[in-house]
Amino acid sequence: MTGPVDVVVMAAGKGTRMKSRLPKVLHRLGGKALAAHVIDCAAQLGARRAVVITGHGAEQVEPALAAHVQGGMPLQFVRQEPQLGTGHAVQQAVPVLADDGVTLVLSGDVPLTQPDTLRALLDLCDGQHLALLTLDLPDPSGYGRIVRGAGDGVQAIVEHKDASEQQRRITEIYSGIMAVPTRLLRGWLARLDNRNAQGEYYLTDVVKFAVADGVRVWAHRIHDALQVAGVNSPLQLAELERAHQRRAAEELMTQGVRLADPARLDVRGTLTCGQDVEIDVNCVFEGDVVLCDGVRIGANCVVANVRIGAGAVIHPFTHIDGERAGASVGAGALVGPFARLRPGAQLGPEVHIGNFVEVKNSTLAAGAKANHLAYLGDATVGERVNYGAGSITANYDGANKHRTVIEDDVHVGSNCVLVAPVTLGAGGTVAGGSTITKDTPPGALTVARGKQVSIPNWKRPQKAPKG
Ligand code: UD1
Ligand code: CA
Repeated sequence: MTGPVDVVVMAAGKGTRMKSRLPKVLHRLGGKALAAHVIDCAAQLGARRAVVITGHGAEQVEPALAAHVQGGMPLQFVRQEPQLGTGHAVQQAVPVLADDGVTLVLSGDVPLTQPDTLRALLDLCDGQHLALLTLDLPDPSGYGRIVRGAGDGVQAIVEHKDASEQQRRITEIYSGIMAVPTRLLRGWLARLDNRNAQGEYYLTDVVKFAVADGVRVWAHRIHDALQVAGVNSPLQLAELERAHQRRAAEELMTQGVRLADPARLDVRGTLTCGQDVEIDVNCVFEGDVVLCDGVRIGANCVVANVRIGAGAVIHPFTHIDGERAGASVGAGALVGPFARLRPGAQLGPEVHIGNFVEVKNSTLAAGAKANHLAYLGDATVGERVNYGAGSITANYDGANKHRTVIEDDVHVGSNCVLVAPVTLGAGGTVAGGSTITKDTPPGALTVARGKQVSIPNWKRPQKAPKG
């Protein structure tokens, strides 16, 4: 190993081509800010710290990234105002870096770099050399070109706008990522000037100082362009999103998950799957989702922040979002089609939730069923309860929420209103159409509605004849 690694993330640029009010590095890929991908990658490398250089939109970027958890790695911000080039950007960071480490320079808008690639780059740097991540591009225009010397080493990086015709024919480009011993970087940055085609302080000029000082400059040449692809426009963002999703789908399939179509899956968070999980087309997974063995997810489901127990089946068009409170679906449960589970929905084993049923902050014990058009909010539902079509808990009095308790084996008929707080005693039955405002005794039939009367030979009112 090369000793401590300090990551510098350049994130001060404007991102004009995004044409967005949101700073570029906060646009999301796989549900996570672009720069958060870069910070997570640094944390996976075991970096000692990350220093993010902000400028455009710093007031938005800094709090958004500070709130992003990075497994204990300290995160620090330095501002670059105005933005005078990549070399000027890194100059802002060196005062907070210690000389005993290696600085790894990354960009906040390059989200798909793999930790293994950066490890290889750090190995090449070896605490004493300058190591550049490079790549061959069929169309290298716009990029800095790698000018190689007689041996394996690199002589210079020449920016496109400064390059001669001959240099522009070089297809090996600098990716924007380098690893450099901090004590050397500090001295080289102090020597930068802006006498070039763009009038900027180029970070890439450190190569010529390294060569002048007799420090070896190595290139780690990779072939996977996605790993160094930056986001400059909505089109590029969408392309990288698809690549990222393809990667996620391939990982799941490698683990044995059966996807109806890897191109029609979106994972915007962490999806953990057991054995024999099947996922139909057009499903979106957000936040933390766990699918245990044998779970089947039907087409067109949005599933967020929930644990789904073994063998449960989620039928098509179901929306589940446990948000921060979380949600859980018990083993063997059936949910949907067209069901909605909200925060705090805790379904026990073998529970059935059918079409157009909404469950919020409610616990349903084993075998409870609510199969059609119903609402359960702030309810505790016992085992084997049958909750009829069109029934609702009236849990909100306009100021406060109240609980409804439905004990084991209760049958609630169709179209009932359970006005909370209220408890329905075990084994009782509530007649269809009842509005329940008082607790019901166990084992009893409770009817709470107008009595049915029939008036024989009833004549409907007639219209008066015309004229
Ligand atoms: C840079 C490299 C070029 C390389 C290319 C790869 C230099 C001089 N050139 O060019 O060799 O092929 O990346 O994409 O480094 N930034 C700041 N402050 C600034 C300027 C830029 O934070 O003052 C940030 C940007 O937000 C971006 C990154 O640095 O995240 C790279 O800047 P960009 O302008 O895209 O560099 P290029 O000119 O494309
Ligand atoms: Ca660029």
